[in-house]
Amino acid sequence: MAEHHLRREDLIAPLFVKEGATHPVEISTMPGQFQHSEASLLDECHRLVGLGIRAVLLFGLPTTKDAVGSQASDPSGIVQRAIATLKATFGDRLVVMADLCLDEYTDHGHCGIVRGDGTVDNDQTLVRYGEVAVAQARAGADVVAPSGMMDGQVGAIRGALDAAGFGEVPILAYSAKYASALYGPFRDAVDVTIAGGGDRRAYQQDPANAREAMAEIDLDLDEGADCIMVKPAMSYLDIIAAARARTTVPIVAYHVSGEYSMVRAAAALGYLDEEAVAMEQMLAIKRAGADLICTYFAAQLAEVLA
Ligand code: PBG
Repeated sequence: MAEHHLRREDLIAPLFVKEGATHPVEISTMPGQFQHSEASLLDECHRLVGLGIRAVLLFGLPTTKDAVGSQASDPSGIVQRAIATLKATFGDRLVVMADLCLDEYTDHGHCGIVRGDGTVDNDQTLVRYGEVAVAQARAGADVVAPSGMMDGQVGAIRGALDAAGFGEVPILAYSAKYASALYGPFRDAVDVTIAGGGDRRAYQQDPANAREAMAEIDLDLDEGADCIMVKPAMSYLDIIAAARARTTVPIVAYHVSGEYSMVRAAAALGYLDEEAVAMEQMLAIKRAGADLICTYFAAQLAEVLA
């Protein structure tokens, strides 16, 4: 009689790959998650595919950062190399999604190009996003996933991809992405500190707002988003449910670093059962209306679901 089920193929595993790394390094604030070397990323993907996981979302950590995040669109940048290796190895057995943003690649840590006064220049950033999308598609990315929350980013990326002959590459738009404190551990994972103690509240959404998320989703769909993301997940189940009622496209929910680490930490203290809580949360996210869940628990839960 169960109305909802969690399947291994519902899960997307986020993975970090670090340029020049010789071995995987565990992320201190995300136990069980690693900054991978190119070799260990491949090993991890073999393990994930063996467990029945069908998709990964890649984040790159370059050795050099600059004001415009050059490495994000360099054909030999770390994510482009990783995408090419994964596609050559797994073909259609693994969907390779690429996070499309600049923050891991900029020396100031913002998701876009920064003006002299420290504010982000939305429209200059769109040009860079187009270049990054094309570099990722050229490397073989199956899906590009813009997470920077610039206005007009989906349209700009769609235009750039189409013009470069990648009209078939879909866009997973992080449409409703909140300026959340739950991203804290992720910033350790990608070695990002925002210059001058800054934050992303100028471009990410206010947790107080729900209608605004619907406006963002409508805009992204108008601009050509093929599927949308709500992020974080557990504190935003109402947004997932509202999005489900509003659109027919697939909805992905991102169970983010802080959501993962809270469960891990509580379980490590013996306060609760990690696997049972993780499973319950995933089911809640599906019940709210998500089709797919991007989660650091992907491998662990796939083992149970197998
Ligand atoms: C931005 C990006 C972030 C996350 C995914 N993409 C961080 C941010 O917006 O500050 C967070 C993911 C997580 O917390 O697991 N490139």
